[in-house]
Amino acid sequence: MVKIAPSILSADFVNLERDIRRVSSADYLHVDVMDGAFVPNITIGIPVVQSIRKCTDMFLDVHLMIDKPVRYIEAFAKAGADLLSIHLEADHPTRIAQALDIMGKCGVKKAVALRPITSANAILPYIEDLDLILVMTVEPGFGGQAFMESQLDTIRQVRALIEKYNPACELEVDGGIAPKTAPLVVAAGANVLVAGSAVYGAADPAAAIAALRV
Ligand code: DX5
Ligand code: ZN
Repeated sequence: MVKIAPSILSADFVNLERDIRRVSSADYLHVDVMDGAFVPNITIGIPVVQSIRKCTDMFLDVHLMIDKPVRYIEAFAKAGADLLSIHLEADHPTRIAQALDIMGKCGVKKAVALRPITSANAILPYIEDLDLILVMTVEPGFGGQAFMESQLDTIRQVRALIEKYNPACELEVDGGIAPKTAPLVVAAGANVLVAGSAVYGAADPAAAIAALRV
């Protein structure tokens, strides 16, 4: 079954606890961490993840859009993340492998994320060790952007690699997911859908989550 991961980037940060409760029917809670260097935007960091951990039992899917993420894996794990995704473009391959290693030692699930420019084959050195692969369907940095249909090919290619090398691995997509685009990404092989504006922009977030379950 398809899993839904609302992105709190589109929540009201003054009422974050209320907005987290509003999406409690979802499967994961997606937390977008941006550093102003890997992406042009700056969002939230370790203390906020710590606070979120105290107010919900939801599975925290923390998407690190930061340079050299190896520096912060332990801190985000201790803050309460259940899964950490790091961008393959954010450091040299040896340090990506090192970051994944630290995740294992800290007991968090391991994920890598791909910008639209990155080819599916880039996951090959890590695939057997991963719990989830995140394919961006927008350029990372901001919520509310238009879905990039050209990423359907990458999703299909990643799904084929998952089936071949690690069938238990999940395939998450992030960016521009709405009732119109959800069936396309699911048909291409995604099983975890991140949605920010489609959930929090709706009058009834619970109904919006249900509408995304293809
Ligand atoms: C973008 C973030 C996304 C964002 C998605 O860089 O990684 O998680 O919140 O927002 P929507 O669903 O509005 O495209
Ligand atoms: Zn994200």
